Amino acid sequence: MSDFEITALVLAEHEVFRREFTALDDLPGEELAAAWEGLHAKLEVHAVAEEQLFYPLLAQEADGEQETAEGVHDHNEIRHAAAAVGEQQVGSDGWWEAVRNARQVNADHMAEEETDFFPPFKEAVDEEQREALGMQWLAFHDKHEEADGLSGDDAKVAEVVATEVPEGDPSL
Ligand SMILES: [Fe+2]
Ligand SMILES: [Fe+2]
Repeated sequence: MSDFEITALVLAEHEVFRREFTALDDLPGEELAAAWEGLHAKLEVHAVAEEQLFYPLLAQEADGEQETAEGVHDHNEIRHAAAAVGEQQVGSDGWWEAVRNARQVNADHMAEEETDFFPPFKEAVDEEQREALGMQWLAFHDKHEEADGLSGDDAKVAEVVATEVPEGDPSL
């Protein structure tokens, strides 16, 4: 299986999130703000990329609309949890509590994607298309580094379901 197949890339970024949330615990106080800002931006890029390239295709499968609704609901919950971190003084007890909450909400969501959503997605979308989607995933990340051009607003289930997923490898 290619390393550039979309679910492999999603999983690789989940591992980055697990690592970076864990790493916050050991950072000196003066590095926390920048580290969180970078992680927050990556969470948003990840969510929107999934909403454009993963969930619209999952939604077309049996039970897929329900799963997509759950996924989008989780993304919005993560957005709110991450935004709540920004309301706290960096490094304060309240900040750490908000970070822990965002970490937990995100961890639960990643586990659900990996356990419950990847299998039906892989069954429905063949490997060739998943590799083309992987190229789209990378192109999206290049375009929106640091979440540039992304609003951070809540996603709407109906819009995600109705999204047309581009076909083919963008580099070809
Ligand atoms: Fe997600
Ligand atoms: Fe994800």
